[in-house]
Amino acid sequence: MDGIAITRLDAADAQAARPALTRLLADAVAGGASVGFMSWSEPADLARFWDAVAAEVAAGRTLLFAAHDAGGVMVGTAQLQLIARANQRHRAEVAKVLVHSAARGQGIGAALMRTVEAAAAPLGRDLLVLDTDEASPARAFYNRLGWHEAGTIPRYALMPDGRDCGSTFFYKDLRAAG
Ligand SMILES: CC(C)(COP(=O)(O)OP(=O)(O)OC[C@H]1O[C@@H](n2cnc3c(N)ncnc32)[C@H](O)[C@@H]1OP(=O)(O)O)[C@@H](O)C(=O)NCCC(=O)NCCS
Repeated sequence: MDGIAITRLDAADAQAARPALTRLLADAVAGGASVGFMSWSEPADLARFWDAVAAEVAAGRTLLFAAHDAGGVMVGTAQLQLIARANQRHRAEVAKVLVHSAARGQGIGAALMRTVEAAAAPLGRDLLVLDTDEASPARAFYNRLGWHEAGTIPRYALMPDGRDCGSTFFYKDLRAAG
């Protein structure tokens, strides 16, 4: 974690960082992570995804975070999506937690998650949820960070190569965690 800085990106930052964010997403897909895209997805599709995220950031519906190394290279990202439904304003979803494959195992993912959780509580979002591929190493990662498994839905998504993939849903009640 030496020299790693985690910051929150506003919409302009997100647009400017689109190439770096796209690189992180492409790296995850190339590594076989089920993160919304297929191995044959075009780079332009991945880049457009970040345009949509920047729009959500601009609208105040998503908080976007990035981790940079001492050289200023973006090595990780995570999002907090604020649920707008009137009866779920206490809830937020954590999404696209990505650490570049060359930077894993140094605590960057955990630091991003700590930052996301710390940002949620002051907004009154004290129930967090997320999901991940049931066979992903990320499952051990979230368990390690004190998240609770609610269950797995078979065939929820596809792996980047087109195989079926079950999704395991996690939650963290920040009231209980605090
Ligand atoms: C999951 C991911 C974000 C973890 O990032 P990371 O920076 O390597 O994680 P950290 O180094 O902060 O690890 C935090 C803890 O989780 C554990 N952990 C991380 N990766 C793990 C793995 N592959 N297997 C088992 N445990 C793991 C670590 O051992 C560490 O525990 P410790 O404190 O006891 O050492 C990263 O592997 C990644 O980006 N994967 C691809 C994308 C993805 O699947 N994202 C999640 C889907 S939304």
